[in-house]
Amino acid sequence: MPYKLLFVCLGNICRSPAAENIMNYLINQHRLSEHIICDSAGTSSYHIGSPPDSRMNAAAQQKLQIKLRGRARQLQISDLENFDLILAMDRENYEEILYLDPTGKYQQKVRLICDFCSKHNLKEVPDPYYGGADGFNLVIDLLVDACEGLLKYLPKTPIQ
Ligand code: 4NP
Repeated sequence: MPYKLLFVCLGNICRSPAAENIMNYLINQHRLSEHIICDSAGTSSYHIGSPPDSRMNAAAQQKLQIKLRGRARQLQISDLENFDLILAMDRENYEEILYLDPTGKYQQKVRLICDFCSKHNLKEVPDPYYGGADGFNLVIDLLVDACEGLLKYLPKTPIQ
């Protein structure tokens, strides 16, 4: 059974699709696609069905030469059962995820993605939606750092 990762932000059009696509890029580079699979979701319903934001896509193209794939969907309670590790972009996302788990059954599966960064000190991936290109570039830098850290961490993690 492959290890299943879910990346979560608010809209599922900027940060979490970028995380999913960056992680897939690293997984392919390391020939791990049979062992780790990725998905993403948003805590809100705002952008259900939309492709990744064009500004997020431009930053990913410019920095990594990757095109962001996927369509936004909303996080569901069943995701807590179905995924092995759920990565929140910021504390608000983290709280929203745990809100779906009132008994705390899945709490151990939920982490802030910046916990896996080793080069950056920020604790959250800032929401870039209302800002400029710098914010989108910072998202890419933070997520490359975090996803590289995740890749090192995963093989040592027992599947729950
Ligand atoms: P994301 O960015 O959570 O990284 O996908 C946002 C996208 C949309 C909105 C906020 C953040 N919005 O308010 O519509």
